[in-house]
Amino acid sequence: MNEFYPLAIAELKHDTRDMLVVRLAVPPDLREKFRYRAGQHVVVRQNIEGEELRRHYSICASEAEQELRIGIKKIADGVFSQWAHENLRVGDKIDISPPTGHFGWPHIASRRVSESGGNISVSESGGNVSVNESGGNINEGQHFLMIAAGSGITPILSLMTTILAANATNRVTLVYGNRATGSVIFREEIAALKDRYLDRLAVLHILSREPQEIDALHGRITAAKMLHLAHRWIDFPTIDQAFLCGPAAMMEDVVMALRNSGLAAERIQREMFTVNAAPRLLSRRVVAADHAALIEFIIDGHRQNVQITNRTDSLLETALAHGLEVRYSCKSGVCATCRCKILAGKVDMDASYALEDYEIARGFVLACQAYPVSDKMTVDFDCDS
Ligand code: FES
Repeated sequence: MNEFYPLAIAELKHDTRDMLVVRLAVPPDLREKFRYRAGQHVVVRQNIEGEELRRHYSICASEAEQELRIGIKKIADGVFSQWAHENLRVGDKIDISPPTGHFGWPHIASRRVSESGGNISVSESGGNVSVNESGGNINEGQHFLMIAAGSGITPILSLMTTILAANATNRVTLVYGNRATGSVIFREEIAALKDRYLDRLAVLHILSREPQEIDALHGRITAAKMLHLAHRWIDFPTIDQAFLCGPAAMMEDVVMALRNSGLAAERIQREMFTVNAAPRLLSRRVVAADHAALIEFIIDGHRQNVQITNRTDSLLETALAHGLEVRYSCKSGVCATCRCKILAGKVDMDASYALEDYEIARGFVLACQAYPVSDKMTVDFDCDS
């Protein structure tokens, strides 16, 4: 399950001083494995000074391109990103896992998802649809609101280009926050998209450290800013779906504004790239720490029983400690690479930033954040819906 493949670097390009865009060559025999949907990410694995590091990076190219391009932003204390900026060369091979993740999907399809009593009902919303490469449908005439901050633009760019190319009537409004013009990642690509889809793409750059002629375009993306923008440029009632990618605090604030403006929760989807460390809920687990439990893991169609003598380890830690090959990256509840479904039993979850409410209602958890509560459990890593 936790497959990695050594892929050669075909191209390296600095989009801004801190953003290195890496294009990876996918050999013909791996093309199906690496076929991606807009909004998905890959996990990069690298051994640095004896330690195996894993990082997840969103794919920034559109679905139609099927070009494996990721952006690695240099982080001040980021061991992997610093290493990548200094060491990667064209022709080098790096370990990459096949695309995964649910951001943007199935929400860009022609479905309206609603929850009732824990059950999910999916209904077609009518109108014409076009089929994208991965087999999903994208309705015509929809208005998508995209909100990104900094490197949060990577999955958003993939979604935007996919949605705009899918048919001739979809509209996208992008609200994109950065410090200054020089730090706007994919500035040229976004400008080219704007030229191409003049009537269907609106772009609002919000800059925090550069004065703007229009005051509303200066500052940070907050709930108040969104309401201000809505007053002049964004017609909230016309929005069919909203996608956000950025820091947790920004997204929580903006989601509140969107909800207060009448956008239903199931029409808002978030992807987080950073999170403030959440306090671990150890106190609850200390009570049950000495209790044994039997966990059945389902991975790649195989069932394996693991007997544990205490419940202090997460499902991910338990699986890895018993030699099971499960996928993971951040281990901090951000990337959703370790998403799995609880078929029987109960867990406590520390953080669930990377899951939408409807996924939790369906029984999905993050293995790196989930701790056994029941004496017997079944955990399915294969289930996708
Ligand atoms: S490994 Fe990233 S959310 Fe669990």
